[in-house]
Amino acid sequence: MRILGIETSCDETALCLIEARGTFGSDFSCTVEGQALLSQIETHRPYGGVFPNVARREHSKNVVPLLRSVLEQVEMAAPHPTDISTHENDLEKLLTRESGLYDQLLPFLKTHPKPDIDALAVTVGPGLEPALWVGINFARALGKAWNLPLVPVNHMEGHIIMSLVEKKGSADTFTMRAYEFPAIALLVSGGHTELLLMRDFGVYELLGQTRDDAAGEAFDKIARLLGLPYPGGPEISALAEIARNRNLSPSVALPRPMLRDDTFDFSFSGLKTAARRLIEAHAPLGDEMRSEIALECENEITDVLVAKTMRALEMRDAKTLIVGGGVSANKHLREELNGQLSTVHRTFLVCPPEFSGDNALMIALAGYFRALKKDIPNPETLGAQGN
Ligand code: KG4
Ligand code: ZN
Repeated sequence: MRILGIETSCDETALCLIEARGTFGSDFSCTVEGQALLSQIETHRPYGGVFPNVARREHSKNVVPLLRSVLEQVEMAAPHPTDISTHENDLEKLLTRESGLYDQLLPFLKTHPKPDIDALAVTVGPGLEPALWVGINFARALGKAWNLPLVPVNHMEGHIIMSLVEKKGSADTFTMRAYEFPAIALLVSGGHTELLLMRDFGVYELLGQTRDDAAGEAFDKIARLLGLPYPGGPEISALAEIARNRNLSPSVALPRPMLRDDTFDFSFSGLKTAARRLIEAHAPLGDEMRSEIALECENEITDVLVAKTMRALEMRDAKTLIVGGGVSANKHLREELNGQLSTVHRTFLVCPPEFSGDNALMIALAGYFRALKKDIPNPETLGAQGN
């Protein structure tokens, strides 16, 4: 099956076309045939975070050029000529709210034949609603023009699947890694911090989640207080690494909320408040104090995530730990989890950092497995699910 993944939930516009075969198991493989991604980080950086309506405008502006780029990478067998004249009104209606998108898509569809694709997969949530809508309406328009089924994908499930596959050799081919269910999935991104029990593809039990800020959000907010650019996770991590390499131990302490309570929930907003107080007390911050606070912040978030994850693995007798989402790129978190897991003999699955951020391969993959389950609703019923 050839499936095009579309991701616009936050500040990355991404498309990826895969050819996938096999079931959700060891017979699975897929080849990436074309991909294109445009990050909006530079656009949002001056604001210190992502502005939903700016994200929407940028997705609308960029998604058609990215589609063109993806299709140029693919050798299509026999292009099917399409007559979209009967759909023009429908497409215009669908895209009225995505300013500029219709004006780009219509000429594109008129000059490009229908590609040899079997389905479209699109992120419907969670994410920023205005941003999600661009991808959804774009997918609905393509689905209508090309008469293709539309598979809705949950962004967090995409992050999980990305950690379950691995690249084979240097080719753009991915296969399933070896693991056993039940698994614990720790999902850590800019908007989410969740611990799930996963029994199979699509079978999840939510064990705990953040009660306020997500782990990535805490990194981003504290980075901003420290005068570091967005996104803050990699910035704090780099400073913490410098401090660790110099054997600096933090002379400051931040709280570890809910570390020892008996839930699997998290809370990171108190950390941000404590960091703010610390920063104010030590103003103006010298380089050394800035690194020490970054180190303590990274240690704090890691300690809480690792402790709760290890407890979930033990209490639910899970065989495998899956970690996904942008924060899973964090080197200290990966090393700490790896160290702890090696003593308890559980399988540790985390994707390489190059795939931990938002991308459309993860959406195409999750969409493929959803399509195998015939999870294909009427496109008219699709809507953005922000949370
Ligand atoms: O999954 P993701 O790319 O987007 C969302 O779905 O939210 O996650 C983005 C988050 C940001 O908060 C960013 O600061 C964080 O991931 N992040 C990191 C690192 N790289 C990205 N946090 C800590 N350490 C990193 N190396
Ligand atoms: Zn994400």
